[in-house]
Amino acid sequence: MSELAILGGEPVRRKPFPAWPQYSGSDLERLRRTVESRRWGGFPYPTPLAQDFCARFAEMHGARYALPVANGTVSLTAALMAAGVRFGDEVIVPAYTWDGTATAVLAMGGVPVFADVDPDTYCLDVESVRRAITEKTKAVIPVHLAMRFADMDRLMELARARGLIVIEDCAHAHGGAWKGRGAGSIGGIGSFSLQESKLMTSGEGGLLTTNSLEYYEALQTIINCGRASLTDQFGRRFLGLNYRMTDLQVALLFGQLERLPELRERRARNAALLESLIGGLPAVSLLPPQPEMTSPTMYCYVFRYRPEPDRPAPHRDLFVAAIEAEGIPCDGRFYEAVYRSDLFYATPDNCAQLREDYSRCHCPVAERAAYEEAVWLFQFCFLGSEEDIRDIARAIEKVATQLGRLAAADPSLAGVKAMGRAQRARHERNRNY
Ligand SMILES: Cc1ncc(COP(=O)(O)O)c(C=O)c1O
Repeated sequence: MSELAILGGEPVRRKPFPAWPQYSGSDLERLRRTVESRRWGGFPYPTPLAQDFCARFAEMHGARYALPVANGTVSLTAALMAAGVRFGDEVIVPAYTWDGTATAVLAMGGVPVFADVDPDTYCLDVESVRRAITEKTKAVIPVHLAMRFADMDRLMELARARGLIVIEDCAHAHGGAWKGRGAGSIGGIGSFSLQESKLMTSGEGGLLTTNSLEYYEALQTIINCGRASLTDQFGRRFLGLNYRMTDLQVALLFGQLERLPELRERRARNAALLESLIGGLPAVSLLPPQPEMTSPTMYCYVFRYRPEPDRPAPHRDLFVAAIEAEGIPCDGRFYEAVYRSDLFYATPDNCAQLREDYSRCHCPVAERAAYEEAVWLFQFCFLGSEEDIRDIARAIEKVATQLGRLAAADPSLAGVKAMGRAQRARHERNRNY
């Protein structure tokens, strides 16, 4: 095996992976038409263009209604408001997710209560949710993380039994389905992000889905400054804000939606090839398949770094830095355990609904994933050729079969500290992934 690139050897790959986001001539044409129409904004809400797009998005996800919104954080806050979450209500969220899942709860005056994740999916663990329920619990937000779904059968059963509203955070799950039911159509409300790294994007943006006319009307009102919804059969009124998406963004989304099924299949095919190549490597533990996911979708490809305990091996972060040095973009600290994240400034001083800070919070599976185990590979690396995937596998194999050497070099590595810094800097730039 040749010398590791992080130790000065030749990297496996120097070529870039496919560019993201993707667009075509018809996207430019739609944008041009929208510019020329001089209807750039999002009012009246939802605009005719947005209604056309949302009908298509809702149909693909098996939901009755969809609505566009400014981003995937305010979509969560709007969903929480529509669900009736009030000051001091508790909302159960996974400890391993993007901070926004929890900060949206704080912004609405709610108290995020962290439940642990399942070690085989990294999604919300239903038993941990059960233990976290109190008489103050109002809602639960499962996140369909990276390439797996939360166990929606058991979660919905628990939520029904305990009278909780389920808001699905589908920021990673566009086009996915659980037992034939589209992401965002299983719980009361679904929330999608369209931020630039996501599987569909309008630069920034978000979408809400629901099967309930009452929620649909409430969401319209909340997103559109408190104005009555177009149908207004339930007559609910809220202190709404302007969360509208512009038609310039909507114009980009038609092409994104059209492209989604083909790209989804390509990623799935390439992920299967990667698994066949790296499945037996030392320290590489694949997430078990999830047959309930009838339409697999993958925002990032994730595997677990599990070196044998009695063999010398470097820390996960060095393992990841070594793969990255081979020319494969990847990340270990993609997410933190949210309550330990430096972006989660949540104390009783700045969030009046909190009785205490989160310093006593401990979710062991989430912490292990965040700080020791999870390796995240970006979705755009799975959009290219079979040879791209073979390069990814070669790089992982090269590092995984030289763990002892990497561990021994660890304290004396001049470049690694710099590599760690570069990785942290890149991570900072990409934190919103
Ligand atoms: C799981 C999850 N929830 C919520 C969000 C928030 O979405 P946005 O960045 O569009 O506000 C993101 C994306 O960043 C996310 O990954």
